[in-house]
Amino acid sequence: MTNKMWGGRFSSKTDTLIEKINASIKFDYRLAMHDIDGSIAHVNMLADCSIIKKKEAKQIILGLEEIRKEILEDKFEYKIELEDIHMNIESRLTEIIGPVAGKMHTARSRNDQIATDVRLYLNETINEIIVLIKDLQKDLSQKALSNFDTIMPGYTHLQIAQPITFGHHLLSYVELFNRDKLRFLDSLERLDECPLGAAALAGTSYPIDRFLSSKTLGFSKPMANSLDAVSSRDMLLETLSNLSILSVNLSRLAEEIILWVSSEFNFVCLSDNLTTGSSIMPQKRNPDGAELIRSKAGRVIGSLNTLFIVLKGLPLAYSKDLQEDKEPLFDAIDSVNLSLKVMTIIIKDIQPNKDIMLQAAKKGFAIATDIADILVQELNIPFRESHKIVGSIVAYAEKRNKNLEELDIADYKELDQRITIDLVNKISFDTIIHNKLSFGGTSPQNVNKEAKKWLKRLNV
Ligand code: ARG
Repeated sequence: MTNKMWGGRFSSKTDTLIEKINASIKFDYRLAMHDIDGSIAHVNMLADCSIIKKKEAKQIILGLEEIRKEILEDKFEYKIELEDIHMNIESRLTEIIGPVAGKMHTARSRNDQIATDVRLYLNETINEIIVLIKDLQKDLSQKALSNFDTIMPGYTHLQIAQPITFGHHLLSYVELFNRDKLRFLDSLERLDECPLGAAALAGTSYPIDRFLSSKTLGFSKPMANSLDAVSSRDMLLETLSNLSILSVNLSRLAEEIILWVSSEFNFVCLSDNLTTGSSIMPQKRNPDGAELIRSKAGRVIGSLNTLFIVLKGLPLAYSKDLQEDKEPLFDAIDSVNLSLKVMTIIIKDIQPNKDIMLQAAKKGFAIATDIADILVQELNIPFRESHKIVGSIVAYAEKRNKNLEELDIADYKELDQRITIDLVNKISFDTIIHNKLSFGGTSPQNVNKEAKKWLKRLNV
């Protein structure tokens, strides 16, 4: 038998391989609830516009609600020969309510139907992602507040650069993830138009009211051009781009955590329940969660690339190529959703080894630049000259296996006669870090204020 829904003009059965490549049910079943919502809105509109009878609409809607229940209770049988979620639902509807089910597809096509389903799905999942980003921001801000004065080395080129506070480091990710969140929020505005009623590509001659079905589904208006409504997938590209940027940002934090928990750094500890062991090396506690977050970015960017390549050069309006948009989209959403949840439990759990962080900053001569700044202010000399003096101070300390705080006035005098005891007293990590009061700077005072500001903004 040919397909029950569109087999009218066909005399032979579809080849099984064509059936296989054509079917999308193994992934678009995920859109079932949105498909039912879309159909109910459409059928109500058809009845309001007197295109079908109210009684018929009622029968169809009752049938659809029964199907919704079957799906939610895992009792619905998806059939590959029915190709996709739309035809699986319509076929089951026919079994339940008989031929009147055929009226549901009046004045629409699967082309506007799938475009509507995906927009409803995107709206729901983007909102979920926004909540998950917010959760992560909250935990980062809490951890930042409890570490507003925890000193660690800040890096450039992965070489110790200047001392910073751990809280400041964590808050930098709060800012970064906030921009990710804003990008998603912004995209919801463009998502807020409904394709339903565009039909196959040209609109319809039935007297439908697209504004009504659009409103029922929660959109602010119908899409203005029927061709655009069925063939554009830029909202998926935009979502995948936003997911890619977010996953790259997550991967950077993941990489830092991987470095920090390594025995070389040993800056932070992760609990046993968040690490995994090795089947051969008994001493290991691996940060697999962070490693997988780091690598998921590759999958997400791959999904974006897939869709770019599917869409490139594709003529309007609908082509079956567009069915290939869903698997990469679902995969990217699932990857980012899980990554955000895992990152949140990692951040909640992470405990800094404060003393090790401080010692690393000291050993790495992290206050050299600050000493140069002190010399400029105190001796009234150009920065280039003080840079040179501090260079010799670092070399001197290194030779004697000391850190910069451990040099005394006699050492300094040996290097430059102008250096006074008052000046040497200013060379302390504590004073230096507390003086980083410039707007956006790392001083504990700033970080305390910023962390509290974020927690308030995030309603904690
Ligand atoms: N399963 C299809 C998709 O995901 C639905 C639209 C099919 N339209 C068609 N004319 N074959 O794109």
